[in-house]
Amino acid sequence: MGRAERVILAYSGGVDTSVCIPYLHHEWGVKEVITLAADLGQGDELEPIRLKALKSGATESLVVNATESFIRDYAFAALQANALYENQYPLSTALARPLIAKLLVEAAATYGADAVAHGCTGKGNDQVRFDVSIAALNPRLKVLAPAREWGMSREETIAYGERFGIAAPVKKASPYSIDRNLLGRSIEAGPLEDLEVEPPEEVYLLTRPVADAPDTPEYLEIEFEQGIPTALDQEPLDPVSLVQELNHRAGRHGIGRVDMVENRLVGIKSREVYETPALKVLIQAHRDLESLTLTADITHYKRGIEETYAQLVYNGLWYSPLKPALDAFVSHTQTRVTGTVRLKLFKGNATVVGRRSPYSLYAANLATYGAEDEFDHRAAEGFIYVWGLPTRVWSEKLG
Ligand code: ARG
Repeated sequence: MGRAERVILAYSGGVDTSVCIPYLHHEWGVKEVITLAADLGQGDELEPIRLKALKSGATESLVVNATESFIRDYAFAALQANALYENQYPLSTALARPLIAKLLVEAAATYGADAVAHGCTGKGNDQVRFDVSIAALNPRLKVLAPAREWGMSREETIAYGERFGIAAPVKKASPYSIDRNLLGRSIEAGPLEDLEVEPPEEVYLLTRPVADAPDTPEYLEIEFEQGIPTALDQEPLDPVSLVQELNHRAGRHGIGRVDMVENRLVGIKSREVYETPALKVLIQAHRDLESLTLTADITHYKRGIEETYAQLVYNGLWYSPLKPALDAFVSHTQTRVTGTVRLKLFKGNATVVGRRSPYSLYAANLATYGAEDEFDHRAAEGFIYVWGLPTRVWSEKLG
């Protein structure tokens, strides 16, 4: 008896996931391996990937375009929460995992599979995100992770694949490990493992070096409806086109690069380089519109929720019961986050330079220093007396 009869394998077309196919058959006695490649806008051609799975021994090879759901249900939900892991990483890779897990679980139901599989190793966050998401969506499904157990080096993996007709990578393998989707690119390993080495320009693809960015600033207006971006420069755009367009426009100005040492869930510190131009600009603009339309207490309280939200996404808990609870808070806060934010893109920076909203809480008659001022200055005195009372009493006790 093998470990499973019929398996749905998350497939990328790379060496590791390709080798998973014969490995599951021959080492773990799986009868049928059905591969699933998710199109999340990683820019790969999917037809050759579909065929490669079949050539590598898959019984069936599925390709699912999930870009729309990826942006609408995952990226924009995280945007409403201004989710940034450790204040910097907009979770471009992490957000894709629960969606892929959902596609795997759905395919398992459609094809009557008793297990799903992925090619993650035992050192990363992604294995946790897949395993926990799958368990949440269908706790009866088995999860197989061959690369976590096989103990083969890179060379051994390639050699194993060659025995089953899986060609070794033709070009000299890149020293980097790269994950890419519509939201951006994550780059690690190779020369980046030396924390003192500046990321070589070759790691970036979506963002120009600041030195080559245009010498004139570009202005950009982003429109939001209830916390969801809907138009750029007055042109209504569907979620996918909006992110694509914004990646392009902000990327040209060298916006959205991050180089950080982050804390992985498995306890390892790792150095990761990200480029996520659209998300960077969207979060900045969204935050600004919130400052205008939310009360001070909600804005401040939401900061804590945002931090928790980012950790939840990073730590693979998208389908945990905490998520809908946080969502309930976040969506409730978004009902008036409608309006337009104007930004200036220039030399690696996006700067908010203007904003307007039908729900603006900015009261010019209160804020102005001019003659139209309607604020009751004398009321401040009593307010300050009561506000400062506990501190005054405290100090009086000290004598
Ligand atoms: N550190 C990021 C995360 O855990 C990205 C992981 C994938 N990175 C990569 N370069 N393959 O979400």
